[in-house]
Amino acid sequence: MSVTGQPLNRVDGIRKVTGTATFSAEHKIPRLAHAVLVTSTIPSGRITRVDSAEAERMRGVIAVITHLNAPRLPSAGKAAAGEPPAGRVLNLLQDDRVHYNNQPVGLVVADTFEHAVDAARRVRLTYHAEQATTDFEKAKLQQVDPKKAKNGPADTNRGKLDEGIAAGVAQIDAAYRTPVEHHNPMEPHATIAVWEGDHLTLYDSTQYVTGDRNTVARTLGISPDKVRVICPYVGGGFGSKGSTWSHVVLAAMAARRAGRPVKLVLDRPQMFGPVGHRPHTEQRMLLAAAKDGALTAVRHNVVASTSFQEDWLETSALVTRMMYAAPNQQTTHRLGRLNTGTPTFTRAPGEASGSFALECAMDELAYELKVDPVDLRLRNYAERDPEKNKPWSSNALRECYRVGAERFGWAKRDPRPMSMRNGNTLIGMGMATATYPANRSAATATARILPDGSALVQSGTQDLGTGTYTVMTQVAADALGLPVDKVRFELGDSALPKAPVSGGSQSVASVSPAVQAAAAAVRDKLVALAIADRGSPLAGASAADIASDNGWLVLTSAPDRREPYAAVLARHGGRPIEASAEAKPGSEKEEYSMHSFGAVFAEVHVDAELGEIRVPRISAAYGVGRLLNEKTGHSQLMGGVVWGVGMALMEATEYDLRTGRPVNANLAEYHVPVNADIGVIDIVVVPEKDAQINPLGAKGIGEIGITGVAAAIANAVYHATGKRVRDLPITLDKVL
Ligand code: MOS
Repeated sequence: MSVTGQPLNRVDGIRKVTGTATFSAEHKIPRLAHAVLVTSTIPSGRITRVDSAEAERMRGVIAVITHLNAPRLPSAGKAAAGEPPAGRVLNLLQDDRVHYNNQPVGLVVADTFEHAVDAARRVRLTYHAEQATTDFEKAKLQQVDPKKAKNGPADTNRGKLDEGIAAGVAQIDAAYRTPVEHHNPMEPHATIAVWEGDHLTLYDSTQYVTGDRNTVARTLGISPDKVRVICPYVGGGFGSKGSTWSHVVLAAMAARRAGRPVKLVLDRPQMFGPVGHRPHTEQRMLLAAAKDGALTAVRHNVVASTSFQEDWLETSALVTRMMYAAPNQQTTHRLGRLNTGTPTFTRAPGEASGSFALECAMDELAYELKVDPVDLRLRNYAERDPEKNKPWSSNALRECYRVGAERFGWAKRDPRPMSMRNGNTLIGMGMATATYPANRSAATATARILPDGSALVQSGTQDLGTGTYTVMTQVAADALGLPVDKVRFELGDSALPKAPVSGGSQSVASVSPAVQAAAAAVRDKLVALAIADRGSPLAGASAADIASDNGWLVLTSAPDRREPYAAVLARHGGRPIEASAEAKPGSEKEEYSMHSFGAVFAEVHVDAELGEIRVPRISAAYGVGRLLNEKTGHSQLMGGVVWGVGMALMEATEYDLRTGRPVNANLAEYHVPVNADIGVIDIVVVPEKDAQINPLGAKGIGEIGITGVAAAIANAVYHATGKRVRDLPITLDKVL
């Protein structure tokens, strides 16, 4: 019986809850010194003077590094820039420029963390301040054209927009806004750098060990085979750890200067700037529709913020291009520069912010047309990808609407705003569509059957806490014919077979086929050994007639002819046997459009006098192909929904416009949902077969969970209160 898909407990669960899983900052390294970042206190300008004399004299201080004495890097540290996801424009103390408040501008290395913190506070920098842009309202007026939006153009047109607008009997034209949001994984970014001669080992919290290795090597001007990145556990990433940020290279520079291993951990306030964020968006959305609800025109114009150092685009209109069968459409993306750190991938980058605008506008249109919001979406269901004009590899969206609506009890909703009041509580119900691309990249894996009959399977992928260890163990166990407790899966090391970034929701879709293929290949080798071996009860049998049963090879036609894996190997010198495999997408990637889809239904309770908003329950149904583990899969989708609740009601980084400094750079004032904020989250994954995405039929689930949630809640708030809030987060002042 297949273990893949079963709700297996996490294979790393006990290590996690007993504290024996070693996170990046926890590796025990002899002679470890501690580095602390010094960050800028102005948003724009130059450093004119560095006074580090007092810091250098302090107890335990080993080095104070600033742009005055930092080692010069090849290409001024920009050798790997422009190669995302890992390679970004970094601040590596190569010049005196300040591009944002909280930018790394110095580094103190000391024998203890406390000594380093103490000394870092005594490094005094004098600045020549220059004019800064800290206000998105101003930044968005000076628009910059991004060259492209992911793999497509920044702007698209299809059909005839003006004619489509004229043909509509109903029209929505509104602007939606999302604020800067910062990823706040429990584990902050952390790096330990160890030089042995000219070889560098990094224990780094990263979503991409191989990209991290290559980026650090290129930036330092050394060969990638001189760098190894080790990261067996990640305490959350959400996109922020998909890139190699400045502190990683700075840790390596500090360790070389100090002549001993160095640990550099960002404190929580340093998570707000140097390691990316979801940028501001302002999204003007126009929908026009015929009387029956069919969209006649869609226009989605996005302006997003970026930094002065790098053009990074939040691709909010991509979702609009593919979601509905609208014949006439225009989408545009523009950037406005701010003196902030550079934005980056933030869970469902583009789709999370874009689905807020699109799905709220669809709700507004449903009211305008007096049709049910689910019916309006069904009326505009896209039978194939309308932008690429390709068939979907699979699409269970209609089933998601049906199942989600049924589980939620959507039929009981009275569509009139403020119609479901219960005393002082205004009750609202809203819904939205969810989607995220089903990405896949090339990946490799190695599988080994060991002399004791157990197996070791390896791939240089990552587990962000999402369940990679567990699902890969399940896939490998099935292909090896072994029970899961006889299979060990290793990841998180750039010395292992190469796998892609754990971003874009692609680890399962990319790595599981490689794991499956390597495991099947090594089992084939074992079978070949057995049938060619006169000492085996299976001698002379045909490979096709041999099955696996819990670590035994069995002849299917005569099941008493069987022997354990270990016995086969024992007669062959007791050595492990091994196979490697690469799995990568083929032409199906060009022939099909691949997405996961879902439908989110939310109920809100709004206090009529206080405006306090609660979300007692959400039902969400998803089509994600084959789910490899029901328990970890549901948990991951649920986690995405929880972030959606935060996005809807709480999250925003607030900047002091005078200084460009985030004023809520901590977890007390940067609000995220806690248990008390979360009611029932009912996740259902509908059955779906996808014959194209990969041999397992498994699409990714990492990011779709957040998409649509903010819109479903905003739509529910409108239904409850009659107030249409188009500006996230929906705090109580906006509904009073
Ligand atoms: Mo995801 S934002 O690509 O880690």
